[in-house]
Amino acid sequence: MMADKKTATLSFADKTLEFPIYSPTAGPDVIDIRKLYADGGVFTYDPGFTSTASCESKITFIDGDKGELLYRGYPIDQLAEKSHFLEVCFLLLYGNLPSAVELEDFEARVTKHTMVHEQMMYFFRGFRRDAHPMAIITGVMGAMSAFYHDSTDITDPWQREVAAIRMIAKVPTISAMAYKYSVGQPFVYPRNDLDFASNFLRMCFAVPAEEYEPNPILSRAMDRIFTLHADHEQNASTSTVRLAGSSGANPFACIAAGIACLWGPAHGGANQACLEMLREIGTVDQIPEYIARAKDKDDPFRLMGFGHRVYKNFDPRAKVMKESADEVLDLLGIDNNETLKVAKELEKIALEDEYFISKKLYPNVDFYSGVILDAMGFPTSMFTPIFALSRTVGWISQWKEMIGDPTQKIGRPRQLYQGATMRDYVDVEDR
Ligand code: SDX
Repeated sequence: MMADKKTATLSFADKTLEFPIYSPTAGPDVIDIRKLYADGGVFTYDPGFTSTASCESKITFIDGDKGELLYRGYPIDQLAEKSHFLEVCFLLLYGNLPSAVELEDFEARVTKHTMVHEQMMYFFRGFRRDAHPMAIITGVMGAMSAFYHDSTDITDPWQREVAAIRMIAKVPTISAMAYKYSVGQPFVYPRNDLDFASNFLRMCFAVPAEEYEPNPILSRAMDRIFTLHADHEQNASTSTVRLAGSSGANPFACIAAGIACLWGPAHGGANQACLEMLREIGTVDQIPEYIARAKDKDDPFRLMGFGHRVYKNFDPRAKVMKESADEVLDLLGIDNNETLKVAKELEKIALEDEYFISKKLYPNVDFYSGVILDAMGFPTSMFTPIFALSRTVGWISQWKEMIGDPTQKIGRPRQLYQGATMRDYVDVEDR
């Protein structure tokens, strides 16, 4: 970190403290307050971390005002158009676009790790058939540390690398198995002659009774969805992975923690909640009622797929997703998709409404993704597992960066305590 000459002065009570200010390559300056408690005896207070940089990172950058998202400096719309998911995985993990030889080697390494230990099938058997796939993949990811114990030592760079490749390669297989288990169909093994997205679609939709031919347009759309969800700075689930990793927990346990956090409807669970909301709205004429509910302070209802902590302009991923929705539905010959009609009209009305304009609420990555996944044949319960499958490379890249940072310490925030002060125990007969 380049420590600029700039400093910030903080005066309170009888103290005046100086703190260094660091300038990033992009984004706001940061004030280094690490010595605040030791020198000033006070904490900062920032629940939700709206004004807190938790780490130094070189992986992903978001400009919320411009609606820009960069993976290692490359704009997401260029990567979505010109790259493909495994190349994006290499970029996020190692920092640069691969040469042709590097890419071929990386794809071969991931392909070779797509199968899971055969004993894992019995782990699935413990779940009810109607278990939510997110419950299953959270459990199975955590269990991977029991199956792949030879890649859990985080002090060994080789084991960290193997764990990373194993998780990127196996999460699609585990996610597809969770889907097959929920529909009572046999698990489908991965195939080494298929690309990453085609392999996932085949593991989800192939049945032993007939050949499954991946549709290249659907595979391309699936691959693009993986790329759009791959990483996103220090969002809630990534911060969860970093915090879990800061204790020295094994990589599989850290990613399981990230999956659990992503499941929340305010985060990755919003894609499922959004499509269910669009279906509940049903038709365009019902939209005003829901817009009114979203604006009503006394109504907990929020427009799912709208708003973002960082984007105060369009989420660039939503733009790409919207184009992809038109393409996929057109390919599938679905021209009167009421859900897509409701989504587009809802977006139009919301973006012209003072409430949404004043609060800078725009569609986010979850607003259109569900329309595409639904058209592809996925149940809404598979939407967040697909988000988790995509984000696994981002979580791992951020986890590797943290483990490799010599200054990293166990994350241990403090608090503003408002509870009872010291008092003596009272026997029950005296209360
Ligand atoms: C993801 O962080 C990431 O990067 C996440 C993510 C990633 O790739 O990792 O981008 C993925 O999680 C996208 C977000 C998916 N979630 C949703 O679509 C759920 C609906 N949206 C929200 O609940 C909300 O917008 C959040 C959680 C996304 C952001 O919440 P913030 O930043 O804490 O904002 P806030 O709750 O303080 O809202 C600010 C104001 C509030 O009104 P006031 O209290 O100021 O009067 O805007 C209102 C909110 O009530 N508001 C909404 C709204 N979102 C915010 N009102 C109606 N509908 C909404 N969707």
